[in-house]
Order: sequence, then structure tokens, then C-alpha cells
Amino acid sequence: EKGGYKHFMLKEIFEQPTAVFDCLRGRLDAKAGTIRMGGIDRQLDLLKEAKRIILVGCGTSWHAGLLAEYVFEELCRVPVEVEYASEFRYRNPVIHPGDVIIAISQSGETADTLVALENAKNQGAFIFGVVNVVGSSIARLSQAGAYTHAGPEIGVASTKAFTAQLTVLYLIAIKLGYAKGTLSRDRYLHLINELALIPDKITEVLKTAPEVACLAGKYKNARDFLFLGRGYNFPIALEGALKLKEISYIHAEGYPAAEMKHGPIALVEESLPVVFVATKDAYHEKLASNAQEIKARKGNVLAIITERDTLFEEIADDTIAVPASDEILAPLLSVVPLQLLAYYTGLAKGLDVDKPRNLAKSVTVE
Ligand code: M6R
Repeated sequence: EKGGYKHFMLKEIFEQPTAVFDCLRGRLDAKAGTIRMGGIDRQLDLLKEAKRIILVGCGTSWHAGLLAEYVFEELCRVPVEVEYASEFRYRNPVIHPGDVIIAISQSGETADTLVALENAKNQGAFIFGVVNVVGSSIARLSQAGAYTHAGPEIGVASTKAFTAQLTVLYLIAIKLGYAKGTLSRDRYLHLINELALIPDKITEVLKTAPEVACLAGKYKNARDFLFLGRGYNFPIALEGALKLKEISYIHAEGYPAAEMKHGPIALVEESLPVVFVATKDAYHEKLASNAQEIKARKGNVLAIITERDTLFEEIADDTIAVPASDEILAPLLSVVPLQLLAYYTGLAKGLDVDKPRNLAKSVTVE
């Protein structure tokens, strides 16, 4: 049942080229330059007119929402908010009829997400579901949606469900941006082509597994880890930290890199591992100077970089390279080595990576 893999988590990490491909299949046609998604096509006017999009989820699904905030604002020029379902549910949020809520959930059964959506629906919001499990409670409550088609995810750590969530959210944002006219035809076609290349690029990233396993061996006894990123890679820094906590029980924090100076830099001491999610983008040089600040305090810099990035290769103690892609899509690649890092660190520590302590696959009680 684990298809020759030692654990479900590893199997599911390695299934990501297929999961993303399946998610694109029948939707994205790079040659024709089209994106077809029944649930979106039918609601396109409603989405185009939305005054606000609110993304709701928990844990890894919330991280997908955080990245979608950056992507929707950039491509669709619509105000976006991202909410932890548990907070949204209790804090009497301001919801107007016409607000579009995008619910993100692998299982479709997370109690906080479900109740948050019920409340918002009662207040007149339109609920759009991005769910993996077909026929689940959140899928049934949604008025429209797009399934992620990642296949069953058994490992408690969400991996392929996350990249599939991102893929669906990219598809929606690219389609909507083009329909609204906030995304030019050139950029639209470029993004469609780049998205179609992602499954093969993930296959390339998976070849770094032995290198990542070495790093896990090197750092498995660390007490703490920091994960830093900016822009599209900030949510990935949070996701890397969450994965490491869940699977290796090492204390890890994710931050936007520039927030370091506002407090967390006080934690940096000799040998503290600091992971930079540093694929090439508009902030690259700024991120490099953040990495230099860590080196100046004798921390260890581990960087996820774009191939042939000599700037980071010089600064970092260790680098893992991923293929180049459009900066907006790079998170689909940069997250994979972080999933592997969590997996191999848990493995090196002899832990139960598929069933980490205290965690359930889906949190159906609050
Ligand atoms: O099934 P959901 O996507 O609604 O679950 C949300 C979180 O419980 C889930 O992502 C959790 O954070 C995972 N253990 C992360 O690996």
C-alpha cells in the first residue's frame, strides 16, 4: 500500500509531480492557452465582481491561503484577507453579501473551518471550496468549488495536498486575472506555460532527496530552527517550520526575513540552523543581506536556491538547488526540499513520521 516507500509521507512527497499533473489535467491546456474549470466558469461573473476574497483554513491549508493572498492581489487586484478558521469563527467578523470566501481544506472535515463557513454563509457570503476529499462536509457546504485531485493523503503531515491546493489556487487566480483584464495576455500565456512545466520540475527537485537526507543527519540534534523567506516564499518559510515541528519535534519558527531585526535575531547564536527559502525573485538581494546578518552572528545558513545562484552559494553553508521558474510559481518547487528535510530529520531521529505524537490527520473537534 506504500508502493515500495518506507512511509506514506515519503510516498506522498514523491507523488507530487503526479498530484500536480492530475490537478492540471483537463483544466489547463498550454497549447490552446486556456484554463477550464467548471466550478469557476459557472461563477466567473460573481468572482469578477467580488469586492473582497476571504481565504479560510487551518494549518498547512492556511499557509496555502496566505500564498494565495499574494497571488490574487498581484494577478487579480482584488483585496484579499486570510483567516485562521478558529479565529474567524468566533470574532464576529464583518461579512458583506457579495464577499467570496474560499475555503481551503484537504480533508473537508476540519471542525473550525466547517463552522466558520456555516457562519459566513448565513451572513450572505458565497462559499467556494478548494477541497481534496470528494463529498466531504466542506465540499457539500460549498456553493461552488474545485477539487484538488491529489488522491488520498494518509500521512498526518500534509504534503501533496498542499501543492495541489496551491495549483488550484494558481489556476483560479490566473484565470480570474485574465478575465478581469488585470493580467495581460502575454503574462497570462507565460504563466500557463510555466505552470504546465511544474510537474517535471518537481521531479527534478525530488532528485535532491539524498542531499537533503545528508543535511537532516547534520542538523538532527539542533534544538531550534529558523525558517525565513520574503514575498511568495514567506508562506513557504512558515510551512517549512510547521513540517519540521510536526515530524521531528524540533522547535522551529518561520518569519518574513526582514522581521528578524524586530526581535527573532536575538535567538541567533553559533550553529543555529537558519533556512532561507531563497529562490530568485525581486527581493533576492535583500534576502542575501538578511543571510549575511545571520552569518555575521555565526548562525548556519541553509538555503533553498534557484540553480546557479552564485550569490547564495557564497554566503550559505549548505544549498539545495531547484530549477528556475516564474517567481510567482517558485513556491511549488521550494516547498519540496523542506518537506524532505522534515521527513529525513524525523527518520534520523527514529520517530513515527506518519503518525507524529499528539496529532490527528483531521481535526474534527475544536
Ligand atoms: O484537512 P485540512 O486541510 O482542513 O487540515 C488542516 C490542518 O489540520 C492540517 O493542514 C495540519 O496543519 C497538517 N497536520 C499539516 O501538516
